[in-house]
Amino acid sequence: MLIFNKKSDLSAFLSPLINQNKSIGFVPTMGALHEGHLSLLKKSLAENDITVMSIFVNPTQFNNAEDLEKYPRTLEKDVEKMSTISNKIIVYAPAVLDIYEGNTVSQSFEYDGLEHQMEGQHRPGHFDGVGTIVKRLFEIIQPNNAYFGEKDFQQLQIVKKLVSKHKLPVHIIGCPIFREKSGLAMSSRNERLSPEARKKAALIFEILTEAKEIFQEKSIAETIHFVEESFEKHPEFELEYFEIADEATLLPISEKESDKKYRGFIAIFIENIRLIDNISLN
Ligand code: PAJ
Repeated sequence: MLIFNKKSDLSAFLSPLINQNKSIGFVPTMGALHEGHLSLLKKSLAENDITVMSIFVNPTQFNNAEDLEKYPRTLEKDVEKMSTISNKIIVYAPAVLDIYEGNTVSQSFEYDGLEHQMEGQHRPGHFDGVGTIVKRLFEIIQPNNAYFGEKDFQQLQIVKKLVSKHKLPVHIIGCPIFREKSGLAMSSRNERLSPEARKKAALIFEILTEAKEIFQEKSIAETIHFVEESFEKHPEFELEYFEIADEATLLPISEKESDKKYRGFIAIFIENIRLIDNISLN
């Protein structure tokens, strides 16, 4: 396992490999690794000559100072987890200064409106921060392939848009949501839940799965009503949003069209921890 803290050292290591036409797979993360992250890593290892994983808690994508401060930083454990899979992973774990060079601000991005929906509405500035860091990491690492989870489906679509708008020479690969046995989508934030809340949080995927069945038979409004009503019966949850949107535009839909792909998206609080999930509906 090679661990780099400085982009100059990483570039010096990667550039002869790039010249030899080795394919580079890249998995960007904020660390606190779990099986979901590792599933992306395994896919990259299988599909590329070299795999780089970055671990960087990106300050510019947090719109809440407390959330940034509390975000788990567990580099040693993360490296241990990676080494159970392969000892050939290249790790890039920079300090904020190495990335932002004393100017910790976002560039502003336009993603054809994708940024105004859901997470964009509820986390102002978030996708400017994501665009800034992802573009910078692509410039440093120059990957052929980069792996993103459908867990953050809006982020995946936004990164695809970033790549096409800026003509970046990288192929974006979406990977399925990895879940705990209970169905709860794996997330670094799950670690902050009490054992009780973690058990209860399985309800999120249960209700999404039921909503998918209801969506086949009933209207969009009825499906949304079902989800909202279900969580009202469980006051330990505070629903921020449940939306049914077109996968391509992320715009909420009011009527079903047979040639479109739809997904249900949820953001919900339990014990003041914000969890997100989504499910393909057709
Ligand atoms: P982070 O939340 O650490 O997630 C890193 C990658 O792992 C993302 O592509 C995310 O979608 C994926 N991932 C997380 N949980 C997953 C799960 N249960 N199943 C499958 N994939 C999962 O997303 C970020 O970091 C940051 O925004 C980042 C892209 C690194 C930019 O800072």
